[in-house]
Amino acid sequence: MSNYEIKTRADDRFVPSYARHPLTMVSGNGCMLEDAEGKQYLDFLAGIAVCVLGHAHPSVTEALCRQAGELVHASNLFYNPVATELAEMLCGLSFAEKVFITNSGAEANEAALKLARLAGGPERYEVISLLNSFHGRTLATVAATGQAKCHQGFEPLPAGFISVAGEDEAALEKAITPHTCAVICEPIQGEGGVLPLSSSYLKLVRELCDRHNLLLIFDEIQTGMGRTGTMFAYEQLGVVPDVMTLAKGLGNGVPIGAMLTSNRYGTLMAPGTHGSTFGGNPLAAAAAVATLRVITADGFLSEVKRTGEYLSNVLTDLGRRFPDLVTHERGMGLMRGLVLSERGAEHGADIVADMLAKGVIINFTGATTLRFVPPLIVSTAQIDRMAEALAEVLTAKTG
Ligand SMILES: Cc1ncc(COP(=O)(O)O)c(C=O)c1O
Repeated sequence: MSNYEIKTRADDRFVPSYARHPLTMVSGNGCMLEDAEGKQYLDFLAGIAVCVLGHAHPSVTEALCRQAGELVHASNLFYNPVATELAEMLCGLSFAEKVFITNSGAEANEAALKLARLAGGPERYEVISLLNSFHGRTLATVAATGQAKCHQGFEPLPAGFISVAGEDEAALEKAITPHTCAVICEPIQGEGGVLPLSSSYLKLVRELCDRHNLLLIFDEIQTGMGRTGTMFAYEQLGVVPDVMTLAKGLGNGVPIGAMLTSNRYGTLMAPGTHGSTFGGNPLAAAAAVATLRVITADGFLSEVKRTGEYLSNVLTDLGRRFPDLVTHERGMGLMRGLVLSERGAEHGADIVADMLAKGVIINFTGATTLRFVPPLIVSTAQIDRMAEALAEVLTAKTG
């Protein structure tokens, strides 16, 4: 089996909705991936901020194998001990008191948007999101996503969504009407270019939500599960949302998401208001419980903070060495972006391809930003290896 053979067969049969690298990944271990021809890659993307414990983590593999032999699915018509344990763990780790489990991030946001409308009642249905945000690919989450390129071809979008510029309190206040029920935002805009929102802005958003009785929804699908050095990014920002959505790292690659909220709002979802055939099935829940046990183990998150700082320093140093290509680095914990200058951004896609050729996986997002979201178990030696490759790639682009 070659990379090319699988690419040819896949291109023949899949709708062409993904721009893929011409590579076929077949196995992984820790921070390494291997392609169909045996080439190894240092993975600084982790399945797009998903494989927080790295590939083939033994605890997750063991939990999946054990659960697969016991029960994979019995439906939400029955209680489920594994999903119950997961819901208890998520509430124990956060502000939340009620949980709805989904299969993906977009579905977690759908649940949050539906909850906001239930809370708002018939008169208050409008949701305010931020420009440059990303909330998913279903129609409602596309409508909530503040990027025109994601809307194109799908209009008319579901009504009741409006996006305003982030960090602009006046714009947000102006957008609030008697029909508004919620504000949704990512503490760090991931797909938008690893763009953190400031704690002071988020505190103002919280105040406005309190004053107008709006739900504050934090989309922590990318920032959650230890990615920023705390279990959830909101813990570092001094702002507690009413609703939080999770996915990506929750099952270390096994599809699972969750919407978390308080008793005040959670109890609004009465029987028949929302559901999912697969949501919270024992197999996916077992992966999430196993993942959470590792993340909550002593010292894990403080190590993420330490390696996050190391990565930040390494990227800052690269910025100093290549001032014509790089403007600055930003992010929190192990969610970091290297922002390219106008000249650098012209090479964004090439830099990613050149890194791949050197056996390192990163990506380019938000039109200007190289994104680094490695497994949270990445070592400083692996960060050095990535930086060495990037320095070589950037050197070839200067002059
Ligand atoms: C912040 C955020 N929200 C929602 C989503 C959608 O998640 P999914 O692709 O699992 O539906 C993503 C995916 O990139 C995301 O980064």
